[in-house]
Amino acid sequence: MSGTVGRNARMAWIGALLLATGACTPLDDLAVFVFGRSMRDSRSFDPYENTIAPPENSVPFASGNNTPGPGRLNTGQPEPGLMPAPFAQADLFSPVVQNLPNPVPPDPASLERGEVLFNRFCAVCHGAAGVGAQANIIEKFPLLIGYNLSGPVVAGFTDGYIYGIMRIGRGLMPPYGHQISHFDRWNIVNYIRVLQGQAGNTPLGAGAE
Ligand code: HEC
Repeated sequence: MSGTVGRNARMAWIGALLLATGACTPLDDLAVFVFGRSMRDSRSFDPYENTIAPPENSVPFASGNNTPGPGRLNTGQPEPGLMPAPFAQADLFSPVVQNLPNPVPPDPASLERGEVLFNRFCAVCHGAAGVGAQANIIEKFPLLIGYNLSGPVVAGFTDGYIYGIMRIGRGLMPPYGHQISHFDRWNIVNYIRVLQGQAGNTPLGAGAE
């Protein structure tokens, strides 16, 4: 009995000491000294983190077709007059990206696939109907209320811009190019056009439509 009490008291002292010395660092240092590492440098990955960077000049699966050459912008489809990589935010406004022809006709198969992927990847932030205020995360990120995908603003964007923003993200929106493949991004664009029509907005007949 008295042994337990003594141990508890000792633990309390050690705890107080650790607190006083500032969040365990001396113990960590000791662990590193003795074992070469401590629990603090455990290898953990963030959700959705790419754990292995693709080798230089490799063509990721998600990019679709091959680039026209090393160091050239890979929009996912062969295009004349492409600008050099990397595909950056400013490129979203370039004529090449703005006028990318949409190679996928908005047939039932494309729209069905687009709906599945939209609900999987986009709806969490932009809402199932493309209305930001209805998104699941809105309680935590109220700023997203402004980002309607079925509203008149995005209805006025070209297909290429919406395709491009999915590929490289913009501002607070993360890029999805490594998770959503080339043709699937076009399927999502087609589905967003349907949402815009349902919301009473006329989508820009962009690209090849
Ligand atoms: C993690 C939350 C999140 C997800 C998931 C997300 N977005 Fe976004 N999206 C944002 C934010 C934040 C913005 C505003 C970007 C900025 O700050 O410039 C935005 C902006 C946009 C815009 C521009 C809207 C405008 O009015 O200018 C488009 C288009 C868009 N997103 C499409 C998509 C598509 C398509 C998907 C699914 C592949 C998607 N987003 C997934 C957060 C998200």
